[in-house]
Amino acid sequence: MSNQIEPKLIIHGGAGSSLKGKGGLESVRQSLHEIVTEVYQLLIEGKSATEAVIRGCQLLEDNPRFNAGTGSVLQSDGQIRMSASLMDGEKQRFSGVINVSRVKNPINLAQNLQNQEDRILSDYGSAELLRELNLPIYDPLTDLRLHEWIEERKENFTRKMAGVVAENNDNAKRGTIGVVALDKQGRISAGTSTGGKGLERIGRVSDSAMPAGNYANSQAGVSCTGIGEDIIDECLAAKVVIRVTDGLSLAEAMEKSIQEALTNQRDLGAIALDYNGSIVWGKTSEVLLAAYHNGKNIGDCLEWDDNKLIGNG
Ligand code: GLY
Repeated sequence: MSNQIEPKLIIHGGAGSSLKGKGGLESVRQSLHEIVTEVYQLLIEGKSATEAVIRGCQLLEDNPRFNAGTGSVLQSDGQIRMSASLMDGEKQRFSGVINVSRVKNPINLAQNLQNQEDRILSDYGSAELLRELNLPIYDPLTDLRLHEWIEERKENFTRKMAGVVAENNDNAKRGTIGVVALDKQGRISAGTSTGGKGLERIGRVSDSAMPAGNYANSQAGVSCTGIGEDIIDECLAAKVVIRVTDGLSLAEAMEKSIQEALTNQRDLGAIALDYNGSIVWGKTSEVLLAAYHNGKNIGDCLEWDDNKLIGNG
């Protein structure tokens, strides 16, 4: 018991425009804090970082408010295609699915693929895996997301992407969910899941099932949110983790990486933690919907100063 360390946890429900004044802030906070409470308890009970990340992603996917699993946005053709990945930092092993349909929890497929020869599957292969695993067919469509798409179609798709959080007002921007955990054994894992940008062309591939959007090793773990193309161009998650591995502190690595993203006019956010137990987040977007447990208390960055590039828990 004595050589066990204090677990840490950070989760996010996307990034985008401010929720202030839109009535959404307190309910988003409540959703995120409830999930942090449940998942942190698993870490306290001795569950692995990977188990905690999977459970956290499932809970976020199941909440229709967030753009992943149930409540995913529709693509330009009116279909939902989801992507998810899991990275076990101890094994430094990545797995994921790209543009999968008709499944409740895409993260479960990423979990299954962790121990397979072929660890990243696209649409057709993911559907085959679903069938092999006998997972029930599930429709993740919600009325609000369908309405959002129908309204866009009326205007012949003037917006470039759908809303980050499902709510009855125009809150256009991007969404994804993510979880990064450090367990009692000092192991780190990261998971990320998304419905994509929304309204995108068929076959567009998200960052969420790439090391650019989700990465971990024994030193640090990162999950990203924001515009996938921007995250890929910055290779953000892998860049932060590698900078920590090469000797920067997590805060230094995040600040340098977010500053570069800002210079390049990217629109994104990231959550991270390291083997020392540091919890850090960063963003160039207006708001990042993240919450954490630092071993002592639950906190979040929902009302974080817009001018700050990084914060820590
Ligand atoms: N970051 C989610 C996406 O752009 O697909």
